[in-house]
Amino acid sequence: MNNPKLSIVDLTKRYAPGLDPAVDCLSMSVEEGHLVALLGPSGCGKTTTLRMVAGLMDPTSGSIMVDGKDITQTPVHKRGMGMVFQSYALFPHMDVAQNVAFGLQMRKVGSKEQNRRVVEALDLVKLGHLAGRQVKELSGGQQQRIAIARALVVEPTLLLLDEPLSNLDAKLRENMRTEIRSIQQRTGATTLFVTHDQDEALDMADRIAVMNGGIIEQYGAPAEVYERPQTHFVADFIGQANFFASAVVADDGAAADGERSYVVDVDGFGRFGAVGAAGLAGSTHEIVVRPHRLKTSLQQPAGPFIEGVIERVSYTGDSLSLGLRAGGKELLSQMPTASSGIPRLGQTAYLSWDPADAFIIPGTAGIPHGTERPATADALAAQDVA
Ligand SMILES: Nc1ncnc2c1ncn2[C@@H]1O[C@H](COP(=O)(O)OP(=O)(O)O)[C@@H](O)[C@H]1O
Ligand SMILES: [Mg+2]
Repeated sequence: MNNPKLSIVDLTKRYAPGLDPAVDCLSMSVEEGHLVALLGPSGCGKTTTLRMVAGLMDPTSGSIMVDGKDITQTPVHKRGMGMVFQSYALFPHMDVAQNVAFGLQMRKVGSKEQNRRVVEALDLVKLGHLAGRQVKELSGGQQQRIAIARALVVEPTLLLLDEPLSNLDAKLRENMRTEIRSIQQRTGATTLFVTHDQDEALDMADRIAVMNGGIIEQYGAPAEVYERPQTHFVADFIGQANFFASAVVADDGAAADGERSYVVDVDGFGRFGAVGAAGLAGSTHEIVVRPHRLKTSLQQPAGPFIEGVIERVSYTGDSLSLGLRAGGKELLSQMPTASSGIPRLGQTAYLSWDPADAFIIPGTAGIPHGTERPATADALAAQDVA
C-alpha cells in the first residue's frame, strides 16, 4: 500500500503488569477511503485497538500514524476522529440538530456554516425532516443514524465505529448495514468498524482484520479470508466449515492464481484433490471444505467419496442443510431442494468435492510424514493454537 491513511505499528496494550496483553504487537495499514472491519470474538481486543486509535487510551507501546504523521502522543481532541458507539451516546437534553451541531460548536465553526453542515449531515442520513425532534422521540435506528451524522459532520480524519448495530433488531440491522456502507462510500470516509458478526464484516468491509487473543490472524479482502483462510481459527470463525486432517501426498501441478493442486490423504477417508500454496507436499495439514461446496448425493459418485449417514435435515426452501455422521465425524453439507423430495434421516449420502473447493490451510501444523501425526483435525487445531 503506497500512502496508507492509517498505519498501526506494533501496537500493544497491557491493562496491568503481569496481565496478558489485550492487544499484542498489532500492525496494520488502512487505505484511504476503505472500510476496514476489526472482526473477532468478544474479548479479542477490538475495542481496545479502536480506543487507542481514537486517543481515548494510551498504548503500552507501539505507534499510530495518520497520513504518515505519528499521532501516538496527540490528545484525543486534536485527532479529529469521528466516533460512534454501540450505545449511541446522544445528548438527551438536546434536539437532533443540536446533537449534530455539537462538534462544530466545539470547533468554533461560525453559526451560518454550522447550519449548512448540519442540514447536509442530516440529509446524508435521510433524517433532515427530524431536525427539531427530541432525541427520546427517535427510534433506535434513527438514533444510530443521528450518531453517524454527528460523527461525520466534522469531516473526521477517520470514522471509528464500535459495534454500532448490535443494539438494533435483526431486520433494522441489515438495513443499517447497507445504509452505513452507502454513507461511507459517498463521503469517502476512511472507516474502522468493530464487529463480532462475520456476516456484517463480509457484507460491509473492503478489508477484514480477523482478530483472536489480541493479534490479527489474517488481514484481507472478504473473499480472501473466506476462501483462503490462513489458520484454523479464521476458517472456523468465518462461515461454516468441515475440517479434515490430511497428509499432503503429492504435488499434482499448477492450479489457478499461483496455487498448486495436490493429492491429499484424508484421515480415514482415502485420497482426494485439494488446492493450496506451493511447497506443502510431504506435510500434514488441515483442509477446509465449506458445506455448500461439499457435493452431496444419494447415489454413489464415480470419483472418491465419503459415505455418511444423514442425522439432521433442515429445509430452508432454496436448500437443504444436512448434518451427517461419517467415520465418527460430524459433517455439514448443503444441497439444492428438488421437487422429488427430502432425504430421510438415517439414509446414506455420498460426499465429494471438486479439488478447487478444498483448501489446504497453511497455518495448521505441518508435520513431516513418518513422524507421529495427530489423528484428528481437532488435535491439529490444538497445535495450531499452541
Ligand atoms: N479496563 C480494562 N481493564 C482490564 N482489562 C480490560 C479492560 N478493558 C478490557 N480488558 C480486557 O482486555 C481484553 C480485550 O478487551 P476488548 O478490547 O474490550 O475486547 P473486544 O472489544 O474485542 O470484545 C479482554 O480480555 C478484556 O477483558
Ligand atoms: Mg468491544
